[in-house]
Amino acid sequence: MRRTHTCGELNSSNSGLNVVLEGWADTIRNHGNITFIDLRDRYGVTQVVIDSSKSEDIARVTKSIRKEFVIHIEGSVRARPTGTENKELITGGIEVSAEKIFVVGSSLPLPIDLNGRTETNEDLSLKYRYLALRANNLQKNIALRHKITKAFRDYYDEEGFFEIETPIMAKSTPEGSRDYLIPSRVNPGKFYALPQSPQIFKQLLMLSGFDKYYQIARCFRDEDLRADRQPEFTQVDWEMSFVDRDDLLDVGERAIQRVVKDVLGVDIKVPLKRISHSEAFERFGVDKPDTRFGLELIDLTSILSKGEFNAFNAVASEGGVIKAINIEGKAEFSRKDISELEEFVKIYKAKGLAYLKYVNGTFEGSITKFFKPSVLEELKNKVNPKENDLIVIVAGKYNIVSAALGNMRNLLAKKLSLVKPNTWDFLWVVDFPMFEIDEETNQLTYAHNPFSMVREEDKELLDKDPLKAISGSFDMVLNGIELGSGCIRITNPDLQRKVFKMIGLSEEEIESRFGFILNAYNYGAPVHGGFAFGLDRLVMIMLGAGSIREVLAFPKNKSGVSLMDDAPSSVSEKQLKELHIALDLPKE
Ligand code: AMO
Repeated sequence: MRRTHTCGELNSSNSGLNVVLEGWADTIRNHGNITFIDLRDRYGVTQVVIDSSKSEDIARVTKSIRKEFVIHIEGSVRARPTGTENKELITGGIEVSAEKIFVVGSSLPLPIDLNGRTETNEDLSLKYRYLALRANNLQKNIALRHKITKAFRDYYDEEGFFEIETPIMAKSTPEGSRDYLIPSRVNPGKFYALPQSPQIFKQLLMLSGFDKYYQIARCFRDEDLRADRQPEFTQVDWEMSFVDRDDLLDVGERAIQRVVKDVLGVDIKVPLKRISHSEAFERFGVDKPDTRFGLELIDLTSILSKGEFNAFNAVASEGGVIKAINIEGKAEFSRKDISELEEFVKIYKAKGLAYLKYVNGTFEGSITKFFKPSVLEELKNKVNPKENDLIVIVAGKYNIVSAALGNMRNLLAKKLSLVKPNTWDFLWVVDFPMFEIDEETNQLTYAHNPFSMVREEDKELLDKDPLKAISGSFDMVLNGIELGSGCIRITNPDLQRKVFKMIGLSEEEIESRFGFILNAYNYGAPVHGGFAFGLDRLVMIMLGAGSIREVLAFPKNKSGVSLMDDAPSSVSEKQLKELHIALDLPKE
């Protein structure tokens, strides 16, 4: 046996026991002939005491040991001398007195600091990821990720779902990002696409009669990376037949309830709050509201367009909106604070930020002069300010004002520390519209997913006023972050074809990209729908991690590069030739 125990389990009840341990030398302290080594593995650390006067062999080996050597020790457990115990560790009451010791694997000095005592540059720690993973914080993150994944697996298994793997080498799926392509050697000029999600396969599995499917699925999307995005990430993906939307919400919220309970021991109440997509925008300016704090948007269009302020009047006459946030008690904000907020809203294309302070029972601010006292009175009734409140106002197109104030809300919550730590604000955003206008092309596009079913009562709107049609789509949001999405699918191939056409696909494109799935729906389709949780994001939020890279064993950096193995990398001429690919690279 190479080891009898791990480095995290021996305690005073084991006193006198002969043990064999292996692990990494975490710290080494020499006191003359006596050497203390904290031996580390993923379970913890155990203090080993070596007396070099015991034999020349022990002395020689001990002298050679450096930090991060893997060593083997045999010895006996004994209580630590009184006063030297470490109550915070399970193993803190004992030490192992070594009788035999040898080096299993020596180590060069590590290029990165595992204890976070000196700042390691992130690129360096990604290059040596296999070493960075030895650090306590990453070990904990990976352990929590495992627990979360297991809790999901247990839940779906108990609910009668089959775990079914779907192809990685597949045809392009329409999740709205660019595909990663794989050239086919045996089919020159043809490409597989790595799946952006298992969407099409899981729908087909419903047609095959597997009425409850789930998968811990790898997904691949070539999109701009952010703190909560990776080019390859994992979804807890599931689909069910013979259900309506509320059945899906029920399964989804109980899944999350189970996971949070199993992993954190926290009780989440279900049913979760539900808020419609339009209400989310009205009140919070975004489709993933963080409702742990107030700062809700107040619509002042009808009031503030009644004065002499041309900027506001123009916006209102062009169908725009004038909305505000009351930042309670912050009349003390300086000009600099306010200009920072103004710069922030400009990121979202807002033209500017007006403000009013409510001091000594009246509104103060350069724009008050444009409004009659009766209008200011109306404003007061609407906003209901308290002494020393600061009201910030943005006017413009609905989407711009919403994005500007919605994101500013989140910024203010951080700046003013309005959110209690360890709070779990789960909610559903339901009733997404079927379509929206793509800002780049000015064309109708799907708002959520091209397979989303239109709400029964809105079917006629598809022809009359498609932008008003509501779909069976929904998102789960946690603390203002989109955790997952789902919907009831279109199961009528004619309707699906019509939706594809409405979003601008030609007959040929529909046939070549989706012909097979449209055809499949001609052979008896149950009503079905499903959902996918972003696993990485959930782990990230449960850990309070600042970046998705902290919850993946081997992440890519912001440019999609794996610094450890240098992927992506060039391939040989021979490989390219076999694939019939000629490179046409941009000039440096
Ligand atoms: P959607 O595209 O909304 O839905 O993805 C579901 C969830 O996956 C997570 N996610 C990501 N996580 C990390 N990095 C990324 N690049 C990334 N992109 C998405 C998010 C998101 O909410 N097939 C549909 C689901 C369905 O309708 O069943 C889908 O993929 O948490």
